[in-house]
Amino acid sequence: MTDTTTPAAGAASDPDQVRALRAHVDALFPALQTDLEALVRIPSVSAAAFDQAHVAASAEAVAALLRGVGLPDVHILRSARPDGAPGAPAVVARRPAPEGAPTVLLYAHHDVQPPGDAATWDTDPFEPVQVGERLFGRGAADDKAGVMAHVGALRALSALGGELAVGVTVFVEGEEESGSPSFHRFLTEHRDLLAADVIVVADSTNWKVGVPALTTSLRGLVDGVIEVEVLGHAVHSGMFGGPVLDANTLLARLVATLHDDAGEVAVAGLVVAPEPEVDYDEAAFRADASVLDGVALAGTGSIAGRLWTKPALSVIGIDATSVAHASNTIAPRAAAKLSLRIPPGQDPQAAEDALRAHLEAHAPFGARVTWRPGEQGKAFHAAEDSPAMRAARAAFAAAWGTDPVDIGVGGSIPFIADLLEQFPAAAILVTGVEDPDSRAHGANESVHLGELRKVVLAEALLLRQVAGLTGAPA
Ligand code: BES
Ligand code: MN
Repeated sequence: MTDTTTPAAGAASDPDQVRALRAHVDALFPALQTDLEALVRIPSVSAAAFDQAHVAASAEAVAALLRGVGLPDVHILRSARPDGAPGAPAVVARRPAPEGAPTVLLYAHHDVQPPGDAATWDTDPFEPVQVGERLFGRGAADDKAGVMAHVGALRALSALGGELAVGVTVFVEGEEESGSPSFHRFLTEHRDLLAADVIVVADSTNWKVGVPALTTSLRGLVDGVIEVEVLGHAVHSGMFGGPVLDANTLLARLVATLHDDAGEVAVAGLVVAPEPEVDYDEAAFRADASVLDGVALAGTGSIAGRLWTKPALSVIGIDATSVAHASNTIAPRAAAKLSLRIPPGQDPQAAEDALRAHLEAHAPFGARVTWRPGEQGKAFHAAEDSPAMRAARAAFAAAWGTDPVDIGVGGSIPFIADLLEQFPAAAILVTGVEDPDSRAHGANESVHLGELRKVVLAEALLLRQVAGLTGAPA
């Protein structure tokens, strides 16, 4: 029998270890999939307009799963948001480290994005359906598969037997998709519960099906609402139209100043980080993003640079009279919600100040322009390298049979920067189960089950490996 109590240095490259763990993962996978499906059935949308009882129910379900993997203390905890309202329930499950051994924090989130228009889905968003190797449903990938990656890795290790020589804390947040508003307070109230040497964040993407990735950078985020006002009240568009432009037109003109003719963000003073080392094939990008034939891509430089190391600005909502309610009037006001992604190295407040200054300076026809700040989230850039990162790459290579790629990601996981501020010596490993066709946040979200199986194996191997890293693994 394999002695699992000795330090597991090289576990990821020991073919017997890999084979043994792979067999355990294969054996437990059907039950893991059933448990994932049960989580997907809980519509745990953290956005304020949705029933938060479902978020509480998904926290309970996650707590039950973590009790089942033999972590002795499992808590459901809430901290207050800055406005005093209670935050969403987070689940923290722990087994303290043996004397002198490192602690690993395993992160995922159990809340999901709103499903959007159900008519745009091929199946019910909250009724998981498997088609081929993919399991469809809201949260099937982002990030309930991340939760199951941790559960699966811990199940596989306990099936292998023996004590894992590492402390484990699983932290499953309930409000990531709402910008983690209570996380700052949570960190100050429960810092000791979360303290760790290695942090595994299972909320990102792999390079593509069959090729794993370690995420080494993420963009940050600034959003807010821009309002344009031009009249005291609506007036007849025939009687008054001509000498004064309507607010919808003025908003469109203002929004049009935000990009130059090449489609590059035209706000002065924003940071551009150095070009990434790997590129994203243009044809693959077009296919993954479903860009229609004939549509030219925006911006300049490599595709990966445009996604990971340059700012990107989108209009994510518009308040204007709907077509159905249109009447022959000149609109007095219109508003748009803007979402600005910022590269590593860009301070969010400085980015917001630059955006606001641009909007105010470009007020068309002297219209009244008001900016209402929304959320800010910091970007992330991994430290050059660490033993933990090398251990993760070795575990990925063993699980997939293919070397992983170091990638950036255009999306944001803002709490990572907060966590690093609290635990500056910790090594952060940003991993995940998504692939470019997972459609997180969109209709027909799905996880590739073959990839999830590899993620579980890789994480189990990684945990064995971390147990063998001596001293401070950072
Ligand atoms: N899992 C995503 C982040 C992500 C996106 C990783 C794409 C890899 C590829 C995460 O759940 C997310 O969507 N974050 C939000 C953060 C926001 C609400 C502050 C985002 O990026 O919009
Ligand atoms: Mn996520």
